Amino acid sequence: MCGIIGYAGGRDTAEVLLNGLKKLEYRGYDSAGIALAAPKKIDIYKKQGKVAALEENIPPSAQKIFAGIGHTRWATHGAPEDRNAHPHRCGKVVLVHNGIIENEQELRAELAKKGLTPTSDTDTELIAMLLAQFYEKEPRTAIRKTCALLEGSYALGILFEDQPGKIYAIRRNSPLIIGKGEQENFIASDIPAILKYTRSYYLPEEGELAEITKDEILFFDAADQPIEKTLATADWDEQAARKAGYDHFMAKEIAEQPEVVRETIRRYLKNGILFEELGNSFKVAGTLRIVACGSAYHAGLLGKQIIEKLARIPVEVSLASEFRYADPLLTKEDLVVAISQSGETADTLAALRLAKAKEVPTLGIVNVRGSTVAREADQVLYTAAGPEISVATTKAYTCQVVMLYLLALRLAQHWLDGADIENYVNQVEALPALLEKTLSCAAQCKEIAKDFASAEHLFFIGRGQDYAVCCEGSLKLKEISYIHSEAYAAGELKHGTISLIEEGTPVIAIATDRARLPKIAANIREVRARGARVLGIGYPTEDGKTISLPQCPDFTAPIAAAVVCQMLAYHVAVARGNDVDQPRNLAKSVTVE
Ligand code: G6P
Repeated sequence: MCGIIGYAGGRDTAEVLLNGLKKLEYRGYDSAGIALAAPKKIDIYKKQGKVAALEENIPPSAQKIFAGIGHTRWATHGAPEDRNAHPHRCGKVVLVHNGIIENEQELRAELAKKGLTPTSDTDTELIAMLLAQFYEKEPRTAIRKTCALLEGSYALGILFEDQPGKIYAIRRNSPLIIGKGEQENFIASDIPAILKYTRSYYLPEEGELAEITKDEILFFDAADQPIEKTLATADWDEQAARKAGYDHFMAKEIAEQPEVVRETIRRYLKNGILFEELGNSFKVAGTLRIVACGSAYHAGLLGKQIIEKLARIPVEVSLASEFRYADPLLTKEDLVVAISQSGETADTLAALRLAKAKEVPTLGIVNVRGSTVAREADQVLYTAAGPEISVATTKAYTCQVVMLYLLALRLAQHWLDGADIENYVNQVEALPALLEKTLSCAAQCKEIAKDFASAEHLFFIGRGQDYAVCCEGSLKLKEISYIHSEAYAAGELKHGTISLIEEGTPVIAIATDRARLPKIAANIREVRARGARVLGIGYPTEDGKTISLPQCPDFTAPIAAAVVCQMLAYHVAVARGNDVDQPRNLAKSVTVE
């Protein structure tokens, strides 16, 4: 959701900025822009639509460029039009902004009293106007005075016309990293934007201000005192953020699942010991409360099934956006587990902070190292998915699920005997091989996808662990194919929704749990009797098509079924000619409420 890039150094600045913006495209956006700072002037180029459209509009520059900033905008205040795109300028100030200014109406009214009218509908331009008002000679003072008036979230990259070669950056509740190179430095919303040039970066804390030139990066704390910060190193390389011959990032990321699952297991299961880093005393005496959004929430739904079954610990799974306002009944015996690929999702972060404010222990399951959830949770476990570029998550979701399986086994040590645990551990260790075989269902998914491509709406049905997979399968299909779909607990269908089944309505029935087969078979008969076209995933249904999973235990079969759903959704979206990696209106990392 919005992306920031900034560069100070000797390379072709426009090229570095455009390259960075392309790497941030996955975050979701609807317009893009860059500002190039020459000795005495700053040129701004911005355009509604894709970065490629912006690129066409940038003339080769005849003069030396000292620094530049760029932005991809996902519209919040005002339509996605050229005039609302960033960078915004007021007087000598040019800036880009991620986040939302919540007191924008008051600020707008205050500025209007002084006869100042913005030219765009954005909250961002108001920041530029405030900065221009406060700016005399000292950029840091102007930035501090401006930030003191802002409510909400922001990451800012700022240029001043009379400070050539300098970029100023500050953040609050919005991600931003400062990249350090050799005689060149960067700012960016995310690591992939700078990986081509450097893997070293700083993580500014809330309120810390960075002053960046090609030669140095200076940091100042909230009291504007100089501070030293520790450099971090990205463990991802640029290759990992490339398509590597695949048509789409999503296809590549689906294919990477055996490998990233293997690595996630390897990290936390060493010599038969699970999660050594959590310590011997790790346990949950109360309720394990999972908070997450989107697919991470669905990973939690499947995790609940497994943890409750194996460890006999009550698990509540909440949408983070609901949890944060629900005044949840928490006790200090509980463990709040925040699951997030990006570690920056605003609602998940707010839920985590709520738990911390109530002094409830917290655990983050996060993919991006050093992200805010990772830094703020009491303990953190890192999924090893690597950079995930496609907006629709696949490998990060699967790694989250695997982490919850491992956590279930660790917690089950208080309940199950050693031989049972070992048996389950062996099944988890066999997952990478199972997923390798599951990928060979791709051709069948592609074939079946042709039938589904013209559907207007469809249903996913399943029970227990399969219902959890249905939720994710349905979301995946909706996100990228734009076909309306609903996940239903199979037993619940006849309490209303079955009225929507008519001749030819597609229904996908997930059946990986042998114990519940007779029940799901009955539900399949109910919909088929009303004209539904049923596709089974898992154990074969009585008639109709089935995508059978490779030989595997019921315990890990839901993960294989989820991968089949991903492949199906992918091929349906491709058959419909959609932009698979960047579906309309969606953002990868949702940093606003
Ligand atoms: C967005 C993405 C989803 C993701 C959700 C949570 O909506 O499009 O794919 O599941 O955010 O993201 P997180 O980074 O917290 O896992």
